[in-house]
Amino acid sequence: MARHDQQEFVYEPDDFEQIRHALYLKSGIRLIDSKDTLVYSRLTPRLRALSLHKFSHYLSYLNATPDEDEYFINALTTNLTSFFREPHHFDTLATYLRRNPGSKTIWCAASSTGEEAYSIAMTVAEVFGCFDNPVTIIASDIDSEVLRTAKQGIYRREAIEKLSSEHKRCFFHRGKGTYKDQVRIVPELAKNVSFRRINLMEPNWPLSGPVDIIFCRNVMIYFDKQTQLTILKRMVALMPDNGMYVAGHSENYNKNPELVTPVGKTLYRPNREVQCYG
Ligand SMILES: C[S@@+](CC[C@H](N)C(=O)[O-])C[C@H]1O[C@@H](n2cnc3c(N)ncnc32)[C@H](O)[C@@H]1O
Repeated sequence: MARHDQQEFVYEPDDFEQIRHALYLKSGIRLIDSKDTLVYSRLTPRLRALSLHKFSHYLSYLNATPDEDEYFINALTTNLTSFFREPHHFDTLATYLRRNPGSKTIWCAASSTGEEAYSIAMTVAEVFGCFDNPVTIIASDIDSEVLRTAKQGIYRREAIEKLSSEHKRCFFHRGKGTYKDQVRIVPELAKNVSFRRINLMEPNWPLSGPVDIIFCRNVMIYFDKQTQLTILKRMVALMPDNGMYVAGHSENYNKNPELVTPVGKTLYRPNREVQCYG
């Protein structure tokens, strides 16, 4: 990003290089060159709050303050999501649960603000015909701010516009008065999802296998291929033989038969050459 005189904060090309390197080390996220303006706009509120005028000073602060990592990462993640995004995955989930009854654990590994995890919970409730079912849903993200929203389960009414009237009626309370533009996940559904902070780059994830189904959608695209395969290998090791791995629309592992076998559009089952429940 060229430095303009009217720019409020001093932001040199090397600052961007250092920021993207720090983000890569802390989260695995790779920022392409064109993201330099995004970095500027996402971090300037923080520089202002800290009364810093140069990005180089912010970098020194970041390096000296481990607690700053949380704000830094939260500011630079991309959290786009929606209810029943890529709807065919939820049809497949329903079919899988019908064919494989019994207790199941589902991990939604980059849940952002919660829409994906609650879509999973709605599908599960429909399959079992009740909220009290044997399925455990763990939802996680690296970003503590989106997790806060997810736990609250409050969304703008437009977020559920495209949902069926049955979904709206069974799974959401409509806000009233000042809150009339908002909806809230019903508590019976909300209790079925446990949200926690997990950085996929961490060497030890705070969950144990077996995990029958892993939704890991639209997060691997931010990682380089080596990181993707390392994470995929660890996830596959958590899954039983008949597990199901659900990838995002632009994530493809068809060329990784040593790890997974494609079983549908962006759907995979673990390849058993990989050790189970590692
Ligand atoms: C584009 S959203 C995808 C949300 C949802 N899975 C979907 O497909 O609608 C990507 C999410 O990945 C999260 N993320 C990025 N790096 C991560 C990491 N190292 N560990 C865990 N989550 C990460 C971001 O915070 C963000 O919420």
